[in-house]
Formats: sequence, C-alpha cells, structure tokens
Amino acid sequence: MSAYKRPDEESRPVIDLALFGALGDLSLRKLYAALFHLDREGLLHEDTRILGLARQELTTDSYRQRVNQALEQHVKRDELDDATRKRFAGRLEYLQLDFADAAGYEGIARWRSAVRHDTVISPLVVYLAVPASLYGEICRHLQGAACLDELSRVVVEKPIGYDFDTSCDINDAIGEVFPESRIYRIDHYLGKETVQNLIALRFANPLFGTQWNQNHISHVEITVAEQVGIEGRWGYFDRAGQLRDMVQNHLLQLVCLIAMDPPANLDADAIRDEKVKVLKALQPFSVDRLNRDVVRGQYIAGTIRGKAVPGYLEEEGANPHSETETFVAMKTGVANWRWAGVPFYLRTGKRMPDKLSQIIIHFRQQAHYIFDPDQRNLAANKLVIRLQPDEGIALEVLTKDSGLDRGMRLRRGPLHLDFGSAFPQTRIPDAYERLLLEVMKGRQYLFVRRDEVEHAWHWCDRLIASWKEQGEPPRRYPAGSWGPVASIAMITQDGRSWYEDY
Ligand code: BG6
Repeated sequence: MSAYKRPDEESRPVIDLALFGALGDLSLRKLYAALFHLDREGLLHEDTRILGLARQELTTDSYRQRVNQALEQHVKRDELDDATRKRFAGRLEYLQLDFADAAGYEGIARWRSAVRHDTVISPLVVYLAVPASLYGEICRHLQGAACLDELSRVVVEKPIGYDFDTSCDINDAIGEVFPESRIYRIDHYLGKETVQNLIALRFANPLFGTQWNQNHISHVEITVAEQVGIEGRWGYFDRAGQLRDMVQNHLLQLVCLIAMDPPANLDADAIRDEKVKVLKALQPFSVDRLNRDVVRGQYIAGTIRGKAVPGYLEEEGANPHSETETFVAMKTGVANWRWAGVPFYLRTGKRMPDKLSQIIIHFRQQAHYIFDPDQRNLAANKLVIRLQPDEGIALEVLTKDSGLDRGMRLRRGPLHLDFGSAFPQTRIPDAYERLLLEVMKGRQYLFVRRDEVEHAWHWCDRLIASWKEQGEPPRRYPAGSWGPVASIAMITQDGRSWYEDY
C-alpha cells in the first residue's frame, strides 16, 4: 500500500471508532483534542462516529459534557469553534462496559448496525487506550461478539510489555485476533512533524544523502529532556524506569530514522524493514562497558525555573528505597558499513531544566584546514534537528566574520528553518492527529511492526541484565540540572561535549 499520496487524491474514509478507556488520561488529554482538530480541518467524514467505552456509569449526554470539558482544557480557545464542537459532539456515543464481560460487547455490535443515512462501508477501528494486560481479552471478546470483519483495525499504545517475553505474550494475544497488517502500534514520536521531516530531509536532499555516513559524520547526539517528573504515575514508572519508558521506544525509533538506509520506496514495510536492520545492528552493552558508556541517574530535590520540586523518592506514593532510573545517558553505535566507528550519544531524563528534544548530527572537521589555527575546532558543520519546542532544522555553517578588521576570521552561524516562522499559516499538528488520520486511511508506515518492538526489547533486556549484574545504584542529580555529572564526563572523555545552544 502506498504511503504518500497527493492531498487531492486523499479521501476521508468513514470509520466507526470504538475507544476503550474513553475516560482515561490519554483520551481526555490527547485523543479527543486530536479528533476535534481533524474534524475542524474537514478530515473526518461526516458519517464517522465515535463510541466511548469505559466502566463508569454515564449517559451519552454526560459523556459529551466530559469530552467537551476535555476539549476546553486541551484545545486553544480560538480553535474551539461552536460549529465544530456541535458536529463533533454529535458523533459521540457512550457505552458502559466492563471489559471482562463478554456479553456486554454485543452493545458494540448493536451500535455498529444502527441505521445509517447512506450505505458506505465503515471499518471498525478499535483504539485500546487501556493497560496492555487487557489487550488480549478485549480483542477476544470483540471477536466473540462478532464485532470484527476483515477491515477492522486495532490501535495499541506503548508500553508493549516489560521485556521481550512479555511483549511476545501481548503481541501473541492481539495476533490471535488481528493479522499484523491490521495492528497499529503507536509510538507517538513517529507522529511528530519534525520526526517525519527527518525522512524528507534525508531522502529528498542529495546534499545530505551523500554525506550521511561514517566518512562525513563524526558523531550523533540525541537529547530528549523533560521538565516534568512522574506526574502521579509513580507505580507504573517505578516498574519501568527511563530506559523502558523512553529509550526502548522513542529514542530507538529516532536512532532508526537517522541511521537506516534509504528504503526502496515509502511503503510501510520498506521503511520498517530498514529500521529493523538498524535495531539488529545496535551495539550491545557488556558489563565492562557499562562504567564507561552508560550513566543511570535518579533526581533528588531541586529547583526548576525558580520553583522547588521534590526528589523522585519523595514523590507521592514513592518507595523511598527505589533504585529506578529517571535519567539515562549512553554511548552506543550501529555496527554496519554506514556507521562503523560513529558514536551515538543518547540522553533522556525527567526533571531537566527544559523540555527539549533534539538531534544533532556532527559532521567531521575539514580535513585540510587553511584558516586561523585558533579556530580549528570551529571547523565542523552541525545539523540541528529540533523536535520540540520550536520545531525546526538548522545547519550550522562557517562564514567569514564581517568587518574590515576581522581578516579571515570565521564565524559560526545557522542556516535556519524555523517551521513556525517559515510557514506561519500552517498549524503544526499534534502527533496524535497525524497518527489517527493514518489509521483511518489504513496506512501503517508510522506504526511500529512487531519485529521492531522485539528487537528493541532484546537490546534493552541485555542492557538491563548487565545493570543487574553490575549492581550499582543510579547516580543522583538535582532536579533542574542536566543529569549526573558522570553523563558529562562520559562524552568529554571522547573530547566532545553535549550540544548546549538551547
Ligand atoms: C511517554 C512516556 O511515552 O512519552 C512519558 O511514557 C513521557 O513518560 C512522554 O513523559 C513524553 O512525550 P512528549 O511527546 O511530551 O515528549
């Protein structure tokens, strides 16, 4: 199936969306707002309907009110127009359902067969915004109640498992009901505008195509920093930790998009085949490499933007003896022809000074250098890809410093594409808008295939096993800092530093 079509060829397929976990955090914070925006932009077919499913007893009217409140919180006031609000509310219905009660699923079949105004076929899209432990059971009950047909799709969220084995159990359970071609595993980073731009940047610009390898790139740096802490999710997070919560999925997906070879075309499997090759070539960590190349951290109390915040062990519901990491930095690599010898430095943490996700591609220095020897270390280009905030791409180049007295002094400056100011009329959509739209269109290129999940777990499991063997607790870092000092030493030992032109 072709991944990209020109907008004028694109259709607005009708779907019936069954949203499990309709009153949960993800739905209220992200999904209704994303669906609302699609509706506002005319991308939801007039016959598309949404059935909210949750355990709570609620009428359709009060469900609509809850959704409306969520929209008021999460959609900008000037985008929340009355006409769309009314149209969107009209699509919503509610069904109280105990997800373990097989008989209750007949309500979904009844909703499906309710009279329509025309005869279009509307595939059922099942969105499971619920814990992964429920995926298998819900899928089986949907099948048992004859809700599914050969067009039905299922959308699932991370975390898909806790390790390789549990991810296999979850994928097996879904796979008993849905074939892989109709399973949409969300990694919301793949829906971010700049992440998609990575594909365009790399494969539409011959300038980068020829430079994108170990002959020209010295190292790659990825920082995904969050200002938030655990936000009432201590129980979940403490079992997972930052490696499972962020690296296994989001950061490894970014590594894949940076490191993969050009796919033959933009079909979902062509892209995903190339990503899997990267995951298979990721360097594993042995215990003896841990001390040098990996830093685990846990935040203690500190200050963010002038506000005192508690440490991880003082958060609500915390076990004061936990050794779970809230920060991880590592130096890894992709052992193949293209990337041999190019370090990939990754770091991600909670309670950092800023929310910031960026990728820096550091090109090699000029081989034959003719300028001021003092400025030798300036002589390398950097490509800065900013995912959030202020989405944009900048290429740092060297030019001559202006002024009669400056001679041939060099100056470092960006060729800058700031999406917000370059395309002021274009609203940058939230990742979930893009992802929901792709599910409706039945296109899988932005979703994670089962083997990607499994290879990523395999790599993480080996790292976690080495951590256990090593047995060291995480290093402390104050909230509001860029992580443990050791994470800075990790990169400086290679004569480099984290990019800090935030
Ligand atoms: C989620 C993690 O997948 O991504 C959260 O579970 C994290 O812990 C979130 O806060 C970060 O997403 P974003 O889009 O805000 O960078």
